Amino acid sequence: MINVKIVILGAGSVGKSAITIQYVNGEFIDYYDPTIEDMYRKVIEINNEHYMLEIMDTAGTENFLVMRDLYIRNGQGFFMVYSITAKSTFYELEAIKDQISRIKDTNTCNIPMVIIGNKCDLEKDRQVKSSEGEELVKKWGGNIDFLETSAKDNTNISIAFEQLVKQIISK
Ligand code: GTP
Ligand code: MG
Repeated sequence: MINVKIVILGAGSVGKSAITIQYVNGEFIDYYDPTIEDMYRKVIEINNEHYMLEIMDTAGTENFLVMRDLYIRNGQGFFMVYSITAKSTFYELEAIKDQISRIKDTNTCNIPMVIIGNKCDLEKDRQVKSSEGEELVKKWGGNIDFLETSAKDNTNISIAFEQLVKQIISK
């Protein structure tokens, strides 16, 4: 089976772990337990081919940022997660993208990537418009996808993984 290495990046508390656990275990974790690092595996079938996903769930909090270089070096595709309820988490993606470009030594539009606006169930607390996410994908260019998700309601979670794996295997 072909292994596919995925890394989940983004600010603290945006829902990286909740997305991963919803996808892997089919349940929503409603408490906040900051991640140090966690690795998950799941098999996905695309076009009659099976792939073993190795999903690296990373820390968003500042204390562990030095580890990010290593994850990026090893990763083949990246989720860039912000929360639609926190504008600052949207702005943080730019620095992460620059770090990926630097480490992979290429323009990010060549790198498999899905931008995710999570917590879309919290419409009443929205601070980032859908159109702002769409503009960011356009700005970054290439084959990057953009989705709004809810780990809570399981909205667009498996689609996000499918899109990222399709980008990786079509490279
Ligand atoms: P770090 O590990 O510190 O980087 O945080 P994280 O990005 O992994 O966030 P985590 O998944 O732990 O979620 C933080 C909080 O937001 C938790 O209380 C989750 O239950 C909540 N949360 C995550 N996703 C959603 C969502 O889609 N909707 C709602 N309403 N809450 C969510
Ligand atoms: Mg986490």
